[in-house]
Amino acid sequence: MTQLDVLNPATNEVIESIDYTSHEDIDAKIERAYNAFQTWRFVDAHERSAKLFKWAELIDEHQDELAKLVTLEGGKPLAEAKGEIVYANSYVKWYAEEAKRVYGRTIPANTSSKKIVVDKFPVGVVGAITPWNFPAAMITRKMAPALAAGCTIVCKPAVKTPLTTIKLVELAHEAGIPEDAISYIIASGRDAGDIFTKHPRINKVTFTGSTGVGKKLIEQSADTVKNATMELGGLAPFIVHKDADIDAAVDGTIASKFRNAGQTCICANRIFVHKAIADEYVQKLTDKVHALTIGNGLEEVDIGPLIDNEAVEKVLTHITDCEAKGATLSRSVDEIKSLGGNFLKPVVISNATLEMKPMFEETFGPIAPVMTYEDLDEVIGIANDTEFGLASYFFTNDYRTGLKLFNELDYGVIGWNDGGPSAAHAPFGGLKESGYGREGGTEGIEPYLETKYLSVGL
Ligand code: SIN
Repeated sequence: MTQLDVLNPATNEVIESIDYTSHEDIDAKIERAYNAFQTWRFVDAHERSAKLFKWAELIDEHQDELAKLVTLEGGKPLAEAKGEIVYANSYVKWYAEEAKRVYGRTIPANTSSKKIVVDKFPVGVVGAITPWNFPAAMITRKMAPALAAGCTIVCKPAVKTPLTTIKLVELAHEAGIPEDAISYIIASGRDAGDIFTKHPRINKVTFTGSTGVGKKLIEQSADTVKNATMELGGLAPFIVHKDADIDAAVDGTIASKFRNAGQTCICANRIFVHKAIADEYVQKLTDKVHALTIGNGLEEVDIGPLIDNEAVEKVLTHITDCEAKGATLSRSVDEIKSLGGNFLKPVVISNATLEMKPMFEETFGPIAPVMTYEDLDEVIGIANDTEFGLASYFFTNDYRTGLKLFNELDYGVIGWNDGGPSAAHAPFGGLKESGYGREGGTEGIEPYLETKYLSVGL
């Protein structure tokens, strides 16, 4: 059986070698998940809820161990990794509650001799494919609502970060969730995508990752008409209007842009600042960005390594493209690369223009490109002029401007004076080519439910 070496992006050393799951074993796991579904779907909601609460309790107890795994395999600083475990567990706790709140309804019929009853039922077996940037949270926000709804789930974590998933699934079993109701496979994205989208026992595919891969999965799912949820790429605009609290906007930028070294789908990718305040904003942002410490996430640092060398090279192409097209870098390319390995020092890029790569391509790295604007309608037009529609941000202290931006920005997640809008109790998800379906909130259990209605002749 082929082995997968899981690497520490801070050192490029092997943390652990694990076996890939063979195709026969993947098939067997899906079959077992299908058999488990025949029982789990009928376990009453209160019992499913209790088991999810028990899982949450165990995740809390193992918080340090899980956080260390996230740092080791994903690179993010330990404090941030602990934050991720708390965030991940907030989904388990939220859906432990929501399991008990799946409601049906009755509809008055057009004759007194009938009654119409609507009820919700679990979709079936779910195949989940999750990314490396949040090895814990992207797992729980799929697994918890699926299990709460009565589905069973087979998860394929990113090959760069499988260890957190393995531990989370082990804890779920310890909590009493049946072994075959929640399981994982170790496979390449391509293999898992092929199998999940075509397998007759899988009823739903849920994916977080790039728009390119998402489109492929949607295409492949067509043959078996799979139910799907797609959380895809972003190109978040971050607008700082002239009446904004500049210090708050700078803090919001740091929170949004440099979380996980800029490797999140909702990171500010394009920063638009009103000309009247741009100099002050850029100066204050640069001071804070240059004060961020960079290093191995196990040490006390603000920013860890990027996930691998390919990521480093991609971010460097964005930086050099901006420089070649006339932007100003707050530190030189040599200094940005000076730590070597997968580390890049963060940089503020001022005088950015729409021709520069970060303005039309997701960066996934610690760079903050700032472009100025004068007209609000024009910047809204620029912000919306993209195929993406995941997250956007704006800072303004004027409520009319704020409500206008909320109404007119075509994005699923919007932060107003808030650089960190994600929460288990809110419906995360994108518009346009950023995908469909929502994760979190009361909406987040819906993708795991089917609606049936019963017409009763009285
Ligand atoms: C993501 O960027 O993929 C998820 C970010 C979040 O949940 O806040």
